[in-house]
Amino acid sequence: MEDAFGHQISYLRVSVTDRCNERCRYCMPEEEQAWFPKEEVLSYEEMLRVLRVGAGLGIKKVRVTGGEPLTRPGVADFCAQIAAIPGIEQIGISTNGTLLSKEEQGETIAARLVKAGVQSANVSLDSLDRAAYQRSTSRDLLPKVLDGIDAAIDAGFRSIRLNCVLMKNQTEREFVPLIDYARSKDALLRFIELMPVSTQDVLSEANFLSTSHAKQMVEQHYGPLTPLPDFKTNGPATYYAIPATGQKIGFIGAMTNLHFCENCNKLRLTSDGKLRPCLGSYLEFDLREALRAGCSDEELATLIHNVVARKPKEHDFRDNYQPNRKMIAIGG
Ligand code: 5AD
Ligand code: SF4
Repeated sequence: MEDAFGHQISYLRVSVTDRCNERCRYCMPEEEQAWFPKEEVLSYEEMLRVLRVGAGLGIKKVRVTGGEPLTRPGVADFCAQIAAIPGIEQIGISTNGTLLSKEEQGETIAARLVKAGVQSANVSLDSLDRAAYQRSTSRDLLPKVLDGIDAAIDAGFRSIRLNCVLMKNQTEREFVPLIDYARSKDALLRFIELMPVSTQDVLSEANFLSTSHAKQMVEQHYGPLTPLPDFKTNGPATYYAIPATGQKIGFIGAMTNLHFCENCNKLRLTSDGKLRPCLGSYLEFDLREALRAGCSDEELATLIHNVVARKPKEHDFRDNYQPNRKMIAIGG
């Protein structure tokens, strides 16, 4: 599948729930959250149908997201069913890490995910300081997250990435502890610029820390970083190496990197069945209605093609984007 700007679409992010057991400031609105009613959330069967038709159109990579995906029962079994779809080559999960070490049927959820065929785990980790972690997520769950990362390592994921959202007056203190921790766990750490996805007001001068600024601060401690233009994961991160140790770190300049969208290969399916061509655009198209009205696979394929055709050239965050849907209800 190719869009109007030559983007090859091969990656679908599937949000299995809008619920979460944490409350990150940049993801959740301050007001009480009303979750989607159960009947509005796609069943796993419905999601698998979209994935099967998507795989037939060239989707090769799937990432399971939320909310917090591990709060929905049966996620490991769902992943095993995704792995069985012909054409799907890679499965990843994005999680806050709090439930990875939880035991289910005699093993950790992390181990169950690996057995189901999930190769990569992206874990959010903004801080290694328990009080600061609690301030940023409104939950005192840092010890659980660290257990979860260890469980993920024991489970044998092919890759573990740690994602830290850059926040001014907070992340400055975290660079060295996070980088050293990531190195000790052999995990790939990435710093992500704050995006105005949940409420416009989190993205203020007072909160925003750019990747170029972050890189400078990292260099003050570790010396000049070596660019790694040929090292790519699937997303838009730019990677560097710390010369003394060879450790790789990534920067995701969602707001300041003007080339950010050039190689975009993604679509997003929200848990309530909307297909979104871009995280930073209002556009979304309802698949649930079609699914529940008994559409054929051909009709579903046409719908997906139409969404791809409407994929914008780039996100709208720098202009007049006003969130109409919370990050938690899109899937990070
Ligand atoms: N800006 C940048 N990244 C965000 N995430 C959530 N909200 C935002 C935001 N406003 C990222 C977090 C989390 C993932 C699910 O999405 O890093 O790890
Ligand atoms: Fe939950 Fe992740 Fe959003 Fe934090 S960023 S509230 S952990 S979904």
